[in-house]
Amino acid sequence: MFERLERLPDDPILGLMAAFREDESPDKVDLGVGVYRNARGETPVLEAVRRAERIVLERQATKTYVAPAGNAAFNQAMERLAFGAGHPALAAGRVRTIQGVGGCGALRLGAELVHAASPRSVVHVSSPTWANHVPLLTGCGLQLESYPYYDPVTGGVRIDAMLQALEALPSASVVLLHASCHNPTGADLSEEQWRGILAVIRRRGLLPFIDMAYQGLGAGVDADAFAVRLFAAELPELLVAVSCSKNFGLYRERAGTLHILTESASRSQAALSQEVRIARRLYSMPPDHGAAIVSQILADEALRDLWQRELGDMRERLVGLRRELVRRLNAACPTRDFGFIAAQRGMFSFLGASAQQVRALRTDHHLYMTEDGRINVAGLRAENLESFTRAVAQVLR
Ligand code: LMR
Repeated sequence: MFERLERLPDDPILGLMAAFREDESPDKVDLGVGVYRNARGETPVLEAVRRAERIVLERQATKTYVAPAGNAAFNQAMERLAFGAGHPALAAGRVRTIQGVGGCGALRLGAELVHAASPRSVVHVSSPTWANHVPLLTGCGLQLESYPYYDPVTGGVRIDAMLQALEALPSASVVLLHASCHNPTGADLSEEQWRGILAVIRRRGLLPFIDMAYQGLGAGVDADAFAVRLFAAELPELLVAVSCSKNFGLYRERAGTLHILTESASRSQAALSQEVRIARRLYSMPPDHGAAIVSQILADEALRDLWQRELGDMRERLVGLRRELVRRLNAACPTRDFGFIAAQRGMFSFLGASAQQVRALRTDHHLYMTEDGRINVAGLRAENLESFTRAVAQVLR
């Protein structure tokens, strides 16, 4: 049966983790996979998570099944976190939520729902987008196309070209948007640009599908959810996939949500019933541990405050690193301006390196980044900034 299966190449992002582990050089620096690292280069368990986890373990009386839609307290807490407590769409019962197996699972559930409603749908993603969007969205049979997004000259968004492309889409096209901390470019949309996109989406009758994987790591918990809240207030339909991997540091626990907003409470309920069936068919139900932790943090004022402080520290470290990186790179490469890195947000930026230069950085300098030249800024720290800058200046010259 299996003799015809060929060995596939490694995943473009996850494959880097293994290559990095195997590199024995003491100088190696991992700027590949998008996990946050502190000033010591660690991805620690947040203190809010540790405390919540202790409470969860003490109080847990059973390991029996929860439900295909997941942990109800978690789902509701996540609705309030994403949409803002008291959002009119929540008050009207127009948002229904299913827990995902992480943000990836939530994205896939959203794609499956679109496919169930309209199997020939086309999803339009930014050019470029996160590599794993492609298999997640097309794996259930949806078509994929792209709209212009990143401008490598300015390091910002090609907003006019993007709006023009959206304006030309047939109605009911699905548009995947990154709420904040755009992956892989770090180039985010301003509030004014989001308003422009909203106008086109409304005029053309498009379905926005927002991927919010970094809430709180860009401009703040509320600011990063600006588009979710605006669109939910102004549009009849919206899908939002949220991840708790990065902002709660819960990567391996696979906690996330898919929020479904339709015109009425009864339609949202119908869509949720479809999702529950889809989840049952795919994996039955999501894991509970991470969801229970997040739900505990968000329900407890002291834990929530602690989490917000820890998240704020992560955000500030990224902002500080970006500034320092620009200062050093501009000094080391006087013919280039890396100022765009400080204007971008979250963990990622494009260095502007070709695939060949990326390979040289890896083989000659033990710097690991994805082949498109994306760096995870959080992988930098006081001890490696200088060698990183020197290597980049040498290779990009
Ligand atoms: C990344 O973009 O590196 C992260 O989102 C991790 C992943 O699963 O790809």
